[in-house]
Amino acid sequence: MAPRGGFSSRIGFIAAAAGSAVGLGNIWGFPFEVGEGGGAAFVVIYLMFCFILCFPVMATEIAIGRKTQKNPVGAFTALGYKNWNWVGKLGILAGILILSFYNVIAGWAFGYIFEMAAGHFGGGEQFGEYTLKIFKVGGYGLAFMATTALVVSRGISGGIEKAAKMLMPTLVVMMLAMVIYSLTLPNAMDGIRFYLVPDFSKINAGVVYNAMGQAFFSLSLGMGALITYGSYVNKKENIVSAAALITLADVGIAVIAGLMIFPLIGFMSGGTMEGAAGGPGLIFVTLPTIFGTLGSIGPVVGTLFFVLLCFAALTSTVSLLEVPVAYAVDELNIKRNRAVWIVAGIIFAIGIPSLLGFGYSDFFSTAFTTYKEGGTDTDFLSFIASLANDSILPLGGCMIAFFAAHVWRKHNLDDELAEGSPNYKGSFVQKYLNFAVGYLAPFVLAVVFVLTVLFKFFGISIF
Ligand code: TRP
Repeated sequence: MAPRGGFSSRIGFIAAAAGSAVGLGNIWGFPFEVGEGGGAAFVVIYLMFCFILCFPVMATEIAIGRKTQKNPVGAFTALGYKNWNWVGKLGILAGILILSFYNVIAGWAFGYIFEMAAGHFGGGEQFGEYTLKIFKVGGYGLAFMATTALVVSRGISGGIEKAAKMLMPTLVVMMLAMVIYSLTLPNAMDGIRFYLVPDFSKINAGVVYNAMGQAFFSLSLGMGALITYGSYVNKKENIVSAAALITLADVGIAVIAGLMIFPLIGFMSGGTMEGAAGGPGLIFVTLPTIFGTLGSIGPVVGTLFFVLLCFAALTSTVSLLEVPVAYAVDELNIKRNRAVWIVAGIIFAIGIPSLLGFGYSDFFSTAFTTYKEGGTDTDFLSFIASLANDSILPLGGCMIAFFAAHVWRKHNLDDELAEGSPNYKGSFVQKYLNFAVGYLAPFVLAVVFVLTVLFKFFGISIF
């Protein structure tokens, strides 16, 4: 057993890493990004980013983690490049920002378990009222953060690994059943057309940047979460095939979530697809509607769905909290248990403005800031999300790829990737990864990062 604890098995690591990837990003984030990005054209770009760019970066993160057995900051130092550990620090900052808003959404979802059980269904209005009850939703959020902290304080393998293996497949089965049901509703096909038939005239620069941010966010990439998880991985593990499996599982679940939501929006809008750009509230409005059409089993199905969704969110929040905690334990010498509760408390506090930004506080709501880009008003939560997901994560991914290929050097990366993968050297995959990690990812990500920042935060649009 490795001194820092480790995953008990191959499937344990894949389950945990897939658990980190699959979460609200797939089921809550992906449909609303597709809706705001104009539909299928967004999906096409997103898929290209995931497979062409993100998958190589994922393999790289896991390899760095396994090689160094360290948190993202310590990893750069361990390889002998202390002056690169700002990349790890940036990642930790991103993790803190992401968890701060993620926990707000997770808290909403947690509360929906009880709303569903009580038979409260219905459309947008109820969601709007719900987010205004900040002591209630704040309490749910606090409970969610405490649960995350409890799991993280118990260590990596153990309960969460076992539970993930059982509950994730249940979630998939349930979502597939809901896909089939929503396809039977009137106007479902208008939703499918919106979701799957690309209209490339809808692509503009903003859509491309958001697709990149969504790909990184959904795959848990660019902030060292997978360096941290990689540090618990066994040398016998085949990193490349694990990364491929994780990418496929994550993308697959996002695609299924879209198949579930868009027919429903087709149904609710009578085929106009109005409401598809519903923003962060999207699934909290559409899903209760589908449950509401189910008659007396509606509350049961709705409750079960939100239980499973919360579980998927929990395996993600655990990975988000694990990163700053691993840093505090390894680098700042704080006892694990202490670090967990302190960090969780701080992050919850940072999340409070996000919680207030759905109407309760005018200051943090949509009037919070206006992107120079087309003058879109933005609430605090969306602002933090776009700062972290669309800017910091691609920058982190860019730096990690550049570092691995040109500073740590390709042959070292290749050696690590070849451990547990006897056929790796000389394969096509190796050639592709060398190209992608060495040139394609650093270049494309640097360009996207610069353009995103200019466009979103300074209103300068080059394309
Ligand atoms: N990928 C998760 C989701 O889709 C969120 C997440 C967990 C994450 N860990 C992360 C995002 C690390 C970025 C980095 O819900």
